[in-house]
Amino acid sequence: MASTGATGRRQPPLSGEDPAAAQKRAAAIAAAALIEEGMRVGLGTGSTVAHLLPAIAARGLHGLRCVATSPATEHAARALGLTVSTLDEVGELDIAIDGADQVDPAGWLIKGGGGAHVREKIVAEAARRYVVIVSAEKSVAKLSPPVPLELLAFGLRSTLAALAPAALRADTPPSPDGGLIADYLGAIEDPGGLAARLSARPGVIGHGLFEPELISDVLIGEEDGVRRLVGAKAV
Ligand code: 5RP
Repeated sequence: MASTGATGRRQPPLSGEDPAAAQKRAAAIAAAALIEEGMRVGLGTGSTVAHLLPAIAARGLHGLRCVATSPATEHAARALGLTVSTLDEVGELDIAIDGADQVDPAGWLIKGGGGAHVREKIVAEAARRYVVIVSAEKSVAKLSPPVPLELLAFGLRSTLAALAPAALRADTPPSPDGGLIADYLGAIEDPGGLAARLSARPGVIGHGLFEPELISDVLIGEEDGVRRLVGAKAV
């Protein structure tokens, strides 16, 4: 991905806030600035998106229609006065903004730390512009496990055996759509090959590898500001 240099301001840590949180906030504020009046906006899930929602609300745009990727995001967005509809009501999205667990130099993402990766990928696919917001440590030279999975309960043991090494996540409830959250734990030498292998397994509802073709922009909060990388789906 090509870097276009700085695009947003450094956000000094608030009292008690760690530097990564300040970087997430800076990236979120830069992403909120891309939203225009009347847009249909996809909202991701996680702690970075938790910074995005108040930044969007602070824009004071009253004609936005938002689609949330999780009940947590939906509740938080509504509490801030944002209008939330379903994806089927809204149809195509003008922009979607979401966090990620890792971003590699080719633009592959790992997502799903919060277990919302299936809804998040559907929203990313529905968006004309898909913007990823991360703190600096999420930008990695090479992706490493785990890769989050959402699995069908039926035949779970045989699905996990076929994907070995893989394990059910003990501390994460099923998704709102009933899928079980697990992780693929093997090495990631070829993200495209692994994504194809995971997608081909019938018991896999979805996985957290997002291909570079989905990504429009990656906004990385760094020590001295926000760096923008232009992705394959640039608008
Ligand atoms: C949730 C996700 C999150 O975007 C990802 O895990 C990053 O989370 P955070 O913003 O809390 O660091 O994919 O399913």
